[in-house]
Amino acid sequence: NKKQREILRSPIVCILGHVDTGKTTLLDKLRGTNVQGGEAGGITQQIGATYFPSQNIAVEIEKCNQHYPAELKAPGLLVIDTPGHESFSNLRTRGSSLCDFAILVIDLMHGLEQQTLESLNLLKMRKTPFVIALNKIDRTYDWKTEEFASSYISFKNQSKENKNDFNHRYNQIITQLAENSFNAALYWDNPDPKTYFPIVPTSGVTGEGIPDLLSVVIKYTSMYMKSRMVVKQDAFNCTVMEVKKIDGLGVTIDAILVDGTIRQDDKIVLLGFNGPIKTKIRALLTPYPMKEIRVKAEYEHHNFIHASMGIKISAPDLEEAVAGSQLYLANTNDEEQTAIDLVMSDYNQVKKKVKLVNIGVGVAASTLGSLEALLDFLEKKKIPVSYVSVGPVSKDSITKALKSVLADDPKKRKQEYACMLVFDVKILPDAQKYAEENGVKILTANIIYHLQDQYVKYVQECEE
Ligand code: GTP
Ligand code: MG
Ligand code: NA
Repeated sequence: NKKQREILRSPIVCILGHVDTGKTTLLDKLRGTNVQGGEAGGITQQIGATYFPSQNIAVEIEKCNQHYPAELKAPGLLVIDTPGHESFSNLRTRGSSLCDFAILVIDLMHGLEQQTLESLNLLKMRKTPFVIALNKIDRTYDWKTEEFASSYISFKNQSKENKNDFNHRYNQIITQLAENSFNAALYWDNPDPKTYFPIVPTSGVTGEGIPDLLSVVIKYTSMYMKSRMVVKQDAFNCTVMEVKKIDGLGVTIDAILVDGTIRQDDKIVLLGFNGPIKTKIRALLTPYPMKEIRVKAEYEHHNFIHASMGIKISAPDLEEAVAGSQLYLANTNDEEQTAIDLVMSDYNQVKKKVKLVNIGVGVAASTLGSLEALLDFLEKKKIPVSYVSVGPVSKDSITKALKSVLADDPKKRKQEYACMLVFDVKILPDAQKYAEENGVKILTANIIYHLQDQYVKYVQECEE
């Protein structure tokens, strides 16, 4: 029987929103983790992915069964967390481009903010259906908490003063949304689900509204995804999210398997800085369910994985892999040739993007995602870049990066380019010493916009 062999695909849900609206905190509450507490400056600077198995979701959506029954048919949900900080629009675009559905988080206390609007535009452009999480309801006047309750039920227990406060803020947000041509309404009071986006009041601190949010996500994804719910035998769609060095595994890639099946002994082709990379999977890994892939922890080994899933691949020759690129299977000669052709056309686009010049600053970052964010900033400010690298900074990388600058007569050289911008990676001792001896400034930070600020300050110092 053909039906029985069908494997259902887990919907991919992307969380978007302005910085500090509570995206990561909401996920932490649901996972029982504290990823947000471990973030530098409390901001997310990478794309995350967490897989929630249906059993865990069932426990939550059960709480809405009376007023809003929903049933998850897929094996689970793959949830993509994105950064809200303005520096990372590349990662928001990447995250939202592979999702089936989105959760737009708005801070009830702040209303629509700059990246809320940016996210709304992204969703509109891609015609991605979404739900709005109106977060931080626990901060409304006189809120009475019932941990992890449905917010529909929590609302019934609030005072009249609380209701006034909430309604006032809610109405303002509805107006702001309408001004941007979006109709929205509380999900339990939605006049027309086809034209009004559902709103779910939530709290990442108390967990209230998480059952409702999951119920709405599940109801809408099964409504919108009907034909895309099955893992297709011949389809394969996998996007590289991050390139990372992991102790004991070497350089690995984090990827989102959007459709199809990947196997431990697959040959793969993906984009590298210097052309296509052809390699063979050494280990096919995932974080444990309900764990964030971007947090270093133990990984589960697999012989094969069906979509959708956040996966980690360990393989030789991944040092130059480019984040954001597609990964292709190359098990037969035909597959390999097709893959290389596809990668080459991507390659020509990336080459156009990273414009390296002879005289310019050097840039080193921990991941390609953050490297891209830095490069975007430098391009906007018209700051030329002569060299980019991912990973620790060695003496060699400084020599290569600043070759032209260092060759110049120190009195005549453009001192503002005798500079390495280093994000979230170690500087090896010989590199530090070499820089000092040669009048090279090394700027380091583990929050990307601090690095941007530091460079602006450095240029001012050079000019004085
Ligand atoms: P970025 O990833 O940097 O864009 O931020 P984010 O949207 O992931 O927000 P994050 O989870 O970092 O939360 C920002 C701050 O808001 C933290 O201090 C959280 O503790 C707080 N916060 C998040 N959700 C809630 C909530 O529902 N209620 C209250 N009172 N505080 C919250
Ligand atoms: Mg976050
Ligand atoms: Na934050």
